[in-house]
Amino acid sequence: MATLLIRGGTVVTHDATYRADVLCVDGKIAAVGPDLDAPGDAEVIDAGGQYVMPGGIDPHTHMQLPFMGTVASEDFYTGTAAGLAGGTTSIIDFVIPSPGQPLMEAFQTWRGWAEKAASDYAFHVAITWWDDSVHEDMGTLVREHGVNSFKHFMAYKNAIMATDDILVASFTRCLELGAVPTVHAENGELVHHMQQKLLAQGLTGPEAHPLSRPPQVEGEAASRAIRIAGTLGAPIYVVHVSCKDALDEITYARRQGQPVYGEALAGHLLIDDSVYRSKDWLQSAGHVMSPPFRSPEHQAALWTGLQSGNLQTTATDHCCFCADQKMMGKDDFTKIPNGTAGIEDRMAVLWDAGVGGGRISMQEFVAVTSTNTAKIFNLYPRKGAIQEGADADLVVWDPNGTRTISAKTHHQNVDFNIFEGRTVTGIPRHTVSQGKWVWRDGDLRAERGAGRYLERPAYPGVFDVLEKRAERNAPTAVER
Ligand code: URP
Ligand code: ZN
Ligand code: ZN
Repeated sequence: MATLLIRGGTVVTHDATYRADVLCVDGKIAAVGPDLDAPGDAEVIDAGGQYVMPGGIDPHTHMQLPFMGTVASEDFYTGTAAGLAGGTTSIIDFVIPSPGQPLMEAFQTWRGWAEKAASDYAFHVAITWWDDSVHEDMGTLVREHGVNSFKHFMAYKNAIMATDDILVASFTRCLELGAVPTVHAENGELVHHMQQKLLAQGLTGPEAHPLSRPPQVEGEAASRAIRIAGTLGAPIYVVHVSCKDALDEITYARRQGQPVYGEALAGHLLIDDSVYRSKDWLQSAGHVMSPPFRSPEHQAALWTGLQSGNLQTTATDHCCFCADQKMMGKDDFTKIPNGTAGIEDRMAVLWDAGVGGGRISMQEFVAVTSTNTAKIFNLYPRKGAIQEGADADLVVWDPNGTRTISAKTHHQNVDFNIFEGRTVTGIPRHTVSQGKWVWRDGDLRAERGAGRYLERPAYPGVFDVLEKRAERNAPTAVER
């Protein structure tokens, strides 16, 4: 029986801030209140002057993803361990079947890879092709394996791109099952066209990457996905919203009452597109991810999106490639593996720029780093909450602690850090996972295989009202 008392801190949740001790017994929160007695065998963590918050949940990671001819360098152990060092105690990763590969086969493969995870994890499953077996397997995943969200890549033509016919079939199936469709919103046809055009003009370096994926390419895809979902009556979650164009589509749809959710990446909020103008090829290539980093006005829009509630979650899209992997695209930017790291730094950079920068409150910080994800993907209140019976996944936050981020000192298994050199104020002093401390004042005690697979029940019946609402609204043209 493991007992841990976090004493003397200020509990911050998405809806309250108050002084309380937190007692964790056998992986669960057993009590929250003032001046709790420490049972004889309890280990005590002093949280005086610190905030005790729900552990972060990163709803968008890609550990050891096979992608663009290579495999992401961070595996489920190293990646989740780095997450724990950064205050993130759960991830939702992606099962991405190759086109034609049975969904269940891919799901079992990812489940096997994830057995070494140090923190709890769940999976979205990508729909990269369509036939009757995909329809069937989606049902099996929802009913028997606790998958309640499916991902659709509208980009990556000739690889994993989902065309409109697939979106319609899959969103319809999601609606039937009570699962949430999610999209990577970029028009893959346009990206492909722009890539060929730029290459033909002799633009082969990473500076061409953002030119091939301008904001309107993302705005168009977001609009299309949202309108397909709206017509069917399905909810929709747009991952890594990077620009005003996509955010405007989300905001407009939400104003019409459509259940649309949006995710912002820490990287998109903090880093602008000047990184692609570096003379150093590796610096520039190190930032190649999709959608690309945007100009400052788009970053400002994303912060407004979080403040207004039109964007609800923050993630990292943690997908690591080392320099030798990025070099695969030395002579052709379209071959640079797309992806950047961030799981260890998300909480700290968002606190520093968000709470420290006067953009969001502490409670909003908890909402966008943990609770909203738990609610949208049906993990709440097991995750994202500090209350009796919830999982004891907590971060003790030191608002005055500082850290200078660097690839030389981070725990992520990658040789590059997009936040390199940034000094943040506000750091995870201690992290508690399943009621045990796993990060204590710089000491990382992540345990290989300690992470558990999280089943996320779907919402059968809950979506019926959405379908009826779409049918009721269908005949009425709404002026924009
Ligand atoms: O560049 C990115 N984002 N790589 C990971 C795959 C994806 O699109 O999410
Ligand atoms: Zn994506
Ligand atoms: Zn991704």
